[in-house]
Amino acid sequence: MSPYPPGAEELGRGPVLAPRDLDLDALERDARAQLGEMAYAYYSGGAEDERLITENVGAWRRIGLSPRVLVDVSEISTTTTVLGEEVMHPVLVAPTAIHRMATPDGELATARGAARAGTVMTLSSLSNTVLEEVAAAGGGAPQWMQIYVLRDRGRTKDMVERVAAAGYKALVLTVDAPVSGLRSREIRGGVHLPGDLELPNLAHAAAARAQRDGFMAVVSREFDPSITFDDIGWLAEVSGLPVLIKGVARGDDAARSMESGAAGVVVSNHGGRQLDDAPATADVLAEVVDAVAGSGEVFVDGGIRRPSDVVKALGIGAQAVMVGRPVLWALATGGDDGVAGLLTWFAHELRRTMALCGTPSIQDIDRSVLDASRSPG
Ligand SMILES: Cc1cc2nc3c(=O)[nH]c(=O)nc-3n(C[C@H](O)[C@H](O)[C@H](O)COP(=O)(O)O)c2cc1C
Repeated sequence: MSPYPPGAEELGRGPVLAPRDLDLDALERDARAQLGEMAYAYYSGGAEDERLITENVGAWRRIGLSPRVLVDVSEISTTTTVLGEEVMHPVLVAPTAIHRMATPDGELATARGAARAGTVMTLSSLSNTVLEEVAAAGGGAPQWMQIYVLRDRGRTKDMVERVAAAGYKALVLTVDAPVSGLRSREIRGGVHLPGDLELPNLAHAAAARAQRDGFMAVVSREFDPSITFDDIGWLAEVSGLPVLIKGVARGDDAARSMESGAAGVVVSNHGGRQLDDAPATADVLAEVVDAVAGSGEVFVDGGIRRPSDVVKALGIGAQAVMVGRPVLWALATGGDDGVAGLLTWFAHELRRTMALCGTPSIQDIDRSVLDASRSPG
């Protein structure tokens, strides 16, 4: 039986039918008007000069596709698996913090929207809703939980055990934030956690700090900057869950993650919020896929804005992609309907791109779909 709400299975297969248009720039403008300047600055901002945010998008644009013709594409299937769980399409929700700044239901709305769209939501440990309630809102759809190793290892262990008990299917350990990036826009805009919001997965002091000093202070005071590859095995053991290492940007780090007990990696630069001079994710995905060499699953996020970006990522060798900011714009403008609508648009128009590429199933998408004259590496 499908773990998704009735109707979600329809998303995974069928012919290419009526087009669906979605203008993500207009969605962002509408969201900005809804959110107000402080919340918009938090969601949209990045580190330093914010060049990497633009680079992430541009790097996918620079990769070309090489369509095959005269393939029977009357039926297209976008269904696939992620860490053994079936999803209706390979577009997952990236972990992003503080959803109650976008909509009163916050992460509950995101979880409902992702479940209706037949895909995995990754809950940020910096959520405004306690992890058990978000698990319940997913109604049995597979969910993952993003964690940081906190300076307080006892609290980290407690959280990880609760994550497993609540039914999450994987831990996503974020490793690209040993300290916070320099978020100039946050500093200049006085971005902070509104006084009526909590960070219930962390200690109460963390929320008080985020209200008083902003989010950079939380990263630097709560997260343990001493973690190394040796901690991966501990997390896998304590949780009994597969652990994905998020924030990997090099082949050698990916290989060491796998040797240290990870189930896979997420190629990510935190949406350009940490080191502005890090590479765009599209540019390092192939190196990471080659280093992992089938020993686990590789995911990627950063600048994925079009269904064609999804085909490019899968062509290079990703198992699935994650989307960050567009989900926040959808959440701010439409709550759970907005999130379901965004993800359904990706699924629907992914089918069209797959038909145009001559790849009727996800398994058909490999490096031969990439235009060799406009591909990374
Ligand atoms: C507002 C915001 C908050 C984020 N919070 C987290 C977080 O709590 N944990 C984490 O691992 N990544 C976090 N990220 C990074 C995302 O998981 C993801 O890597 C990034 O947003 C992907 O890029 P995109 O926004 O271009 O799609 C955050 C990103 C944004 C925009």
